[in-house]
Amino acid sequence: MPWVEVAREVEVEPSLYAADFSQLGEQVAALVGAGARVFHFDAGDGHFIPEITIGPVVLASLAPLMRGWGGALDCHLMVAEPERHFEAVAKAGGASVTFHVEACDSPARAVAHARGLGLGVGLAFNPETSVEDAVVAAEGADLVLCMSIHPGYSGQEFMPESVGRIERLRKLLPENVRIQVDGGINATTIGPAREAGADLFVAGSAIFWRDDPPAAYLELSELVRNPAHG
Ligand code: DX5
Ligand code: ZN
Repeated sequence: MPWVEVAREVEVEPSLYAADFSQLGEQVAALVGAGARVFHFDAGDGHFIPEITIGPVVLASLAPLMRGWGGALDCHLMVAEPERHFEAVAKAGGASVTFHVEACDSPARAVAHARGLGLGVGLAFNPETSVEDAVVAAEGADLVLCMSIHPGYSGQEFMPESVGRIERLRKLLPENVRIQVDGGINATTIGPAREAGADLFVAGSAIFWRDDPPAAYLELSELVRNPAHG
């Protein structure tokens, strides 16, 4: 799925960080079977966040499968000096890079760099960062990622103040810039995040830590596509 199309849709994005890595291909295939097309790929460097997660080697294994399925890998870089990794992500077959304003000296340069590599571009910001600072830094990006947890690992609780932050973002951002939300999204929190104006919903534990991940994906997708029934 080309990134421009992804960025136009309302999507639930399974976060691979929460997957069972001994069955990664099978789990992704099952979710593709349920309709998932955009997968969230969390790279952490043990520096910007304490955790070391997954990186371009895993991305390169998944990317050809994903292309065959018409899917896209949306890469969330929870790393210091994110620009150092853009080329590796592009070569490994990532569709986009979302980097943190807190980790970046020059967001404008980073946006241009990612574009030059043909990547979609997102600007992420942590709960301590002001919405206004994120909006300024996001000039030229396709999406803004509002972290609804402290970045690090799956399974944390959604921070309720994120709802107001998403609402403010929606008011301040140009209409064509998508809002992604990441952290603690589940069947209870996805509705308020949607109503506040988010379009892209990252879900790790609420999908992969359930007995039936495709059913969990379908339930969340139903809640955002038909909010009236949610
Ligand atoms: C953690 C990552 C998230 C994580 C979300 O900082 O950025 O994408 O996998 O997991 P849940 O949905 O369980 O909060
Ligand atoms: Zn993430």
